[in-house]
Amino acid sequence: MIPLSLLGRGHSNGLLQRLSSLRPALSAQRSARARVSLVASLGHLTLCAGLLLGANAVQAADADEVKIGFIVKKPEQAWFINEQSAATELGEQEGFEVVRLAGEDGQKVLSAIDNLHSQGAQGFVICPPDVRLGPAIMNRAKQYNMKVVTVDDQFIGSDGKPLADVPHLGMSSYKIGQQVGQAIAEEAKRRGWNLEEVAALRISNNELPTAKARTDGATEVLLQAGLPEANVFDSPQQNTDTGSGFAAATPVLSKNSAFEHWVIYAINEESVLGGVRASEQYGLNADQVIGVGVNGSGAAFAEFSRDKPTGFYGTVAVSSTAHGRESAQNLYQWITTDTKPPANTETSGKLMTRDNWQQVRQELGL
Ligand code: GLA
Repeated sequence: MIPLSLLGRGHSNGLLQRLSSLRPALSAQRSARARVSLVASLGHLTLCAGLLLGANAVQAADADEVKIGFIVKKPEQAWFINEQSAATELGEQEGFEVVRLAGEDGQKVLSAIDNLHSQGAQGFVICPPDVRLGPAIMNRAKQYNMKVVTVDDQFIGSDGKPLADVPHLGMSSYKIGQQVGQAIAEEAKRRGWNLEEVAALRISNNELPTAKARTDGATEVLLQAGLPEANVFDSPQQNTDTGSGFAAATPVLSKNSAFEHWVIYAINEESVLGGVRASEQYGLNADQVIGVGVNGSGAAFAEFSRDKPTGFYGTVAVSSTAHGRESAQNLYQWITTDTKPPANTETSGKLMTRDNWQQVRQELGL
């Protein structure tokens, strides 16, 4: 496991620096070539000589002009907006172009790849809308000879195992889930709740391995802390957003009206917020609910900025800035130096609450 602290924001290897310092020289060479080409046509040089000069210009452009795609499953969510911006910013610093694209379903992802190919991109970073699309996405990328790295959600093959040859960068999901469980257990203790009388709303997405690992990690810690297994209620969600969290939570709350105290957890803070909104609609107060999410994105900042606390107690924050930067950097290095990125990089998180969110936000460069 590689801790987040090792994924330094300004990380850049010597070769990248050398490439940057070569860039002005390459541009000067290119304008010199353009001048030669003008003189050549004016002077009626042979067609053959003109073709040779043209071929040279194309080669130089190839070496200097790297373009990558950054495709995300939920382009409207703050986590992904920040990831894409961080990648774009890195591209501006290092001298490569990042094309931000939305891939909310399989069809959109395949068109995004076609689009990237027609723009001359050499590869893309992707958080897929469904991890089982991995083999289809890789087929399309191979047709175009594009390099692919995944971020956040790792592809799985037809055998249900991760596609290990596609480099991946994501959260250390089980551990982060355990941090969620720990935060909930500590807050329940602080409020003096008897865990035997508490219900857990587990908004689950078991088709997505990173979601399952996070909710499993949280459940493990809560059971160890004394929550009875019979009090854990699964609310399967269709997606990974607030709307699907809300829809999943509503029937579970109504069916279990005997419980006064609820804890809520899920793959991410967007889904937990859906559960918290459902608990409010159901009539539960903020002091009856402890929701803890994952991400530390704009969705959590907005919630912590409200005048009064809500049932959304906290979130385990991970740097979406580092995810965006590092995945783009890995791909760029692969394209320019032919160094394949590590097979799997796992990042860690830190609990963010209403009390410390601004400080943690700063620490994580969000
Ligand atoms: C998944 C979730 C996102 C975010 C990332 C982090 O993609 O849907 O909200 O938590 O994982 O890796």
